[in-house]
Amino acid sequence: MRKDLEIVPAVFPMPVLMIATYNEDGSIDVMNAAWGTAYDFKQIKLNISEGHKTTKNIRRTGCFTVSLADTAHIIESDYLGIASGNDVKNKFEKTGMHAIKSKHVDAPIIEEYPVCMECKAIDINNEYGVLGEIINLSIDEKYIDENGLPDISKMNTLAYDPFSHGYYEVTKKVGQAFSDGKKII
Ligand SMILES: Cc1cc2nc3c(=O)[nH]c(=O)nc-3n(C[C@H](O)[C@H](O)[C@H](O)COP(=O)(O)O)c2cc1C
Repeated sequence: MRKDLEIVPAVFPMPVLMIATYNEDGSIDVMNAAWGTAYDFKQIKLNISEGHKTTKNIRRTGCFTVSLADTAHIIESDYLGIASGNDVKNKFEKTGMHAIKSKHVDAPIIEEYPVCMECKAIDINNEYGVLGEIINLSIDEKYIDENGLPDISKMNTLAYDPFSHGYYEVTKKVGQAFSDGKKII
């Protein structure tokens, strides 16, 4: 027997993306966004609302970074999705996290998060959000494996559950894409 549910976008896992921008005075704003995805091989699409401080900052600077949130910073990451830089001037400072300026775009990189995409906005649409070109992709060295690739199993990155708003930790590798299916060929 199958049961019909109230409709939500039942795409799991959704990411927990942390979008960082500079405010007018050079201070930092970061927001949490689960409605974001890869768009092309070097592009990322964020469905973020027009009224957010983040969106206003991207309209002004044309730049932003996107980090993957991790379990170690779950409280800070959720806070950054509840409070707005429109209302709380020291929003980022309150988390106690740290940032450095990207060498590639006019936006901050949050040091505590494992992976960061440094982006330039290609299109900002008040209906569909922001489309960004990834100019640089950087990672904390401690998450690189012996083959020089990011080791997801070490990062403890978060996933968002659209059914009940839970955060899940994504750590366990269970297969190899473009390979496991060959057993049936
Ligand atoms: C788990 C989670 C996911 C969220 N995803 C989005 C999203 O994809 N798009 C969006 O516009 N807001 C999203 N929000 C809400 C913003 O993060 C929130 O409104 C935030 O205060 C905006 O900050 P800002 O005004 O400083 O930019 C999310 C919040 C949480 C907690």
